[in-house]
Amino acid sequence: MCGIVGYIGGREAAPLLLHGLKRLEYRGYDSAGIAVLNGKLSVLKQKGSVALLEKLVEEGKNTTADSTVGIGHTRWATHGDPSDRNAHPHLNASGDIALIHNGIIENHAALRTELTKHGYVFKSDTDSEVLVHLIDHLWKNIPFINFECAVRHSLSLVEGTYGLCVISQREPDNLIAARKGSPLVIGVGEQEYFIASDAAPLIEYTRKVVYLADGEMAVVRRDGFRVMTVDNVEHEAVVTELDFELEEIEKGGYEHFMLKEIFEQQEVMRDVMRGRIKLDENRVHLGGIQDYSDKLRNADRILILACGTSWHAGLIGEYLIEEFARIPVEVDYASEFRYRNPIVGQNDVVIVISQSGETADTLAAMRIARERGACVMGICNVVGSTIAREAHFGMYTHAGPEIGVASTKAFTAQVIALVMLALELSRERTLSNAEMTLYLRELLAVPQKAEEIFRLNDEIVSIAERFKDARHFLYLGRGYNFPVALEGALKLKEISYIHAEGYPAAEMKHGPIALIDENMPVIVIATHDSTYKKMLSNIEEVRARGGKVIAIANEGDDEINKLAHHVITIPETLGALSPLLTVLPLQLLAYHIATLRGCNVDRPRNLAKSVTVE
Ligand code: G6P
Repeated sequence: MCGIVGYIGGREAAPLLLHGLKRLEYRGYDSAGIAVLNGKLSVLKQKGSVALLEKLVEEGKNTTADSTVGIGHTRWATHGDPSDRNAHPHLNASGDIALIHNGIIENHAALRTELTKHGYVFKSDTDSEVLVHLIDHLWKNIPFINFECAVRHSLSLVEGTYGLCVISQREPDNLIAARKGSPLVIGVGEQEYFIASDAAPLIEYTRKVVYLADGEMAVVRRDGFRVMTVDNVEHEAVVTELDFELEEIEKGGYEHFMLKEIFEQQEVMRDVMRGRIKLDENRVHLGGIQDYSDKLRNADRILILACGTSWHAGLIGEYLIEEFARIPVEVDYASEFRYRNPIVGQNDVVIVISQSGETADTLAAMRIARERGACVMGICNVVGSTIAREAHFGMYTHAGPEIGVASTKAFTAQVIALVMLALELSRERTLSNAEMTLYLRELLAVPQKAEEIFRLNDEIVSIAERFKDARHFLYLGRGYNFPVALEGALKLKEISYIHAEGYPAAEMKHGPIALIDENMPVIVIATHDSTYKKMLSNIEEVRARGGKVIAIANEGDDEINKLAHHVITIPETLGALSPLLTVLPLQLLAYHIATLRGCNVDRPRNLAKSVTVE
């Protein structure tokens, strides 16, 4: 969702804030703004990208010069359209308090009515603006309180979620940050401190960070900072070291982050498996689940909860765990689970999957599962994220920072994590030693095969050129490749805005077949596995209605070559591992179609990388 940055120290704040906002722009890009203090409080903000804001700051350089304290925001609109007046920071009436906010203030309407009675006039349609007036109101009306108390009192009256930063001309040496539901990190430097929604903007300046926990507030000064709960219980902050490098969050010569992240996958796959696959012991070793291994193996049921692409990985997890470990698995959208009074038993294990570890629905679903007595495992990419910290146990996917809004490498990393989990759960139970060796060896060979697929890039560009103007796409797959069909369709619609649907191939005749004509490209995943023959029949059915078939098939498949209009030939692997390869050409196809249509693939319209609001 929105991106937040803050700075207090000895350097000029405005350029630092702008630089930080660029790193966070993937979280929202409807509008952007900064507020800096240099004797007085100056705000520059407008609709549009950080690059536009940069121009505005350049033109108004005199107003931001010599400031060493400031806050910045890049917005993903929830309440109020993307416009100059709804852009953050928001100011109080006298213009001496500035606030940026990520999250949703659920009781904003009631607070707005109350504040209006006291004469406050609202300049925006946002829920966030109520906060700055509320702080102002309490600061003026409760005798002897300071800035910190005014913020704290305000937060006690607020329902909803927030990651926020606030500064005031009345106390120019304090920067106040608070979090409930929306992540915030403090970067600890020498006589300087940074605040950000995630660690990406900090890494150039410091590796030392403090992750604020839910319900925590920080008062940051040049000479140090204090962390306390919003109920004012102070405690020692835990400083941790960042575990990624600057290059990982830069484009490294690629035109887009998404392309870089697609091509990075062979390395990411190796990173996820590193130190975890023990060929000499013929097993997978997952340190994070060691103490909970029995709990998992003896679970009555495993429930997988996630959203978006992570939910697709979860579906593959269901197939894997049921096939290998023979434990019943159910997969649910986190957003449905949290509102449907679900049955969760003490012997159930809930696995939550989330790249960011911050998705609001996934987090809420996980908390409900915990409350109902389930043991919760987290599969997350972002180290130190809320889900990672609140789960009983878990594993990191080690895909590195993913900046492209449409998830690619995080997905393959999640699938590898689930393959390894399924194999570990079936060790000495349902898989023989020989089968285990076969799977481990084949898994280790997947990154090399991925590399071969990336060599087909030019071929995929020509297919993209041929179909870039199609208005609809259908994606078909069966078994392990049904979730891949869903993921391929999701990738295409996310970044190219072409309507696309994924379907289990056999279901085609229960509806989507009615849509097929000569204008309908149909992507068919037909690799050599137990459903191959059935897929051939589905291709015949599509052809018979004039549909254009683009098949993802294995090398040496003459039958498909005869049937399909276009074939993307990929190396063979075991059926259960095939999603790791079949998804790659689909990611590339979506990418090329979108770029050929002139879409901004790294920042698709209306989407955000991390959905920290409902
Ligand atoms: C957003 C992103 C998707 C992502 C989903 C779940 O919709 O745009 O790429 O799959 O959130 O995010 P998570 O971080 O929980 O995996």
